[in-house]
Amino acid sequence: MSSYVTRKTPGDTEWFTASRFGMFIHWGLYSMPARHEWVKTREKISEEKYEQYFKHFNPDQYDPKEWAKAAKAAGMKYAVLTTKHHEGFCLFDSQYTDYKCTNTPAGRDLVKEYVDAFRAEGLHIGFYYSLIDWHHPDFPIDMLHPRRDDENAYELNHGRDMRKYAEYMRNQVTELLTNYGKIDVLWFDFSYSRHEVPKDKPWMKGKGKDDWEAEKLIAAARSLQPHIIIDNRTELEQDLWTPEQYQPMEWVRHQETGELVTWEACQTFSGSWGYHRDEATWKSPELLIRMLINTVSLGGNLLMNVGPNARGVFDSRAKAALAAYGEWMSVNSRSIYNCTMAEPKFKAPQDCRLTQSMDGKRLYVHLYAYPFGKLFMPGLGGRVEYAQFVHDNSEVLFVSGHGELVNAGIHMKEGVSQTEDLLVLDLPPVKPNVLIPVIELFLKD
Ligand code: GLC
Repeated sequence: MSSYVTRKTPGDTEWFTASRFGMFIHWGLYSMPARHEWVKTREKISEEKYEQYFKHFNPDQYDPKEWAKAAKAAGMKYAVLTTKHHEGFCLFDSQYTDYKCTNTPAGRDLVKEYVDAFRAEGLHIGFYYSLIDWHHPDFPIDMLHPRRDDENAYELNHGRDMRKYAEYMRNQVTELLTNYGKIDVLWFDFSYSRHEVPKDKPWMKGKGKDDWEAEKLIAAARSLQPHIIIDNRTELEQDLWTPEQYQPMEWVRHQETGELVTWEACQTFSGSWGYHRDEATWKSPELLIRMLINTVSLGGNLLMNVGPNARGVFDSRAKAALAAYGEWMSVNSRSIYNCTMAEPKFKAPQDCRLTQSMDGKRLYVHLYAYPFGKLFMPGLGGRVEYAQFVHDNSEVLFVSGHGELVNAGIHMKEGVSQTEDLLVLDLPPVKPNVLIPVIELFLKD
């Protein structure tokens, strides 16, 4: 077993950490303006104008079976779909609102179809649910709200009742966790109770756990699905820490106790979560794969986002990015699934990242820059039984221990300190035809 113990939490995180790689899906009305999922508030779009999207939402090519197949082919083991994002629009048939997909030309419960399709592919199911709601009449206007600069914003807030909104959320979460079978992840987003208050509008306040009535909300969720993994973004600590849009430098720790925690980085292919037609900062295949490896090499999961377009499909750029993962994962996933951060005694050589199987028996060396001729790994001499490339199981020869190093002529090399525990892997001169090659070291007992 892995020597790492993480902080104990109520949800079932075992399948989750073994899976390592999931698909985030941001989809809603904002896929129509196609200029970021925050478009309503960024552009302070009026209700009337935003209503156009509701009226014309017609994802005629939505086929979540295709999404599920694409996720699976990319090597992803679970998915998290925005059942409701900050705009307040529901992709499910909720009895507590009319602002839902069944009342648009889409005409059906899109969450239901997603659940069925992903489950059929053997993927675990997650629901994202926005705590923020820029449509609900009881959600008080604050500094993030589209109506924040309206002249009558203060008056508009009159009569808005956060208690009612909190109840609305409990009702909807209850629906989501009652009507769709077993749900594995519940991803709330997000709290901002310490957000700066605009000087000219001191009555505005950010929102956090007390506003959401987070204790009751989470109790409601757990009573229905006790095993479920819940993130920390209600401001109430649960199972999952979620660093967003950056790569942590070390395993994420609990702030007070210093314990290691279960964490999941969420990232995008380009600079938006929702479908963005004109955004062009798409990450290269190599960077995407590195982000996955970096994450697992620090004991985390990667939730990589796709923003389907308004017809309900992944566009060619998203498909290409997923295909890059698929191509690499189809031959290298052994270094990702059921793997974690390598034991501290194993040090990654320059330009490499290590992962280790959770049973501790195999060490994986990911070659970010392909070295010339030999790979020197201090600390591993005498500990390796067999070595091979993962993508084709072809043997990688190695020497270690003074005698072998002498016989191989390595003792005569300047600038190489030949300690007894040096392992020297003999690499082919030409980099194998995979974006990032991985060497598997079978460790001696
Ligand atoms: C942010 C954004 C949001 C996105 C989320 C994903 O909190 O508000 O648009 O859904 O990050 O982590």
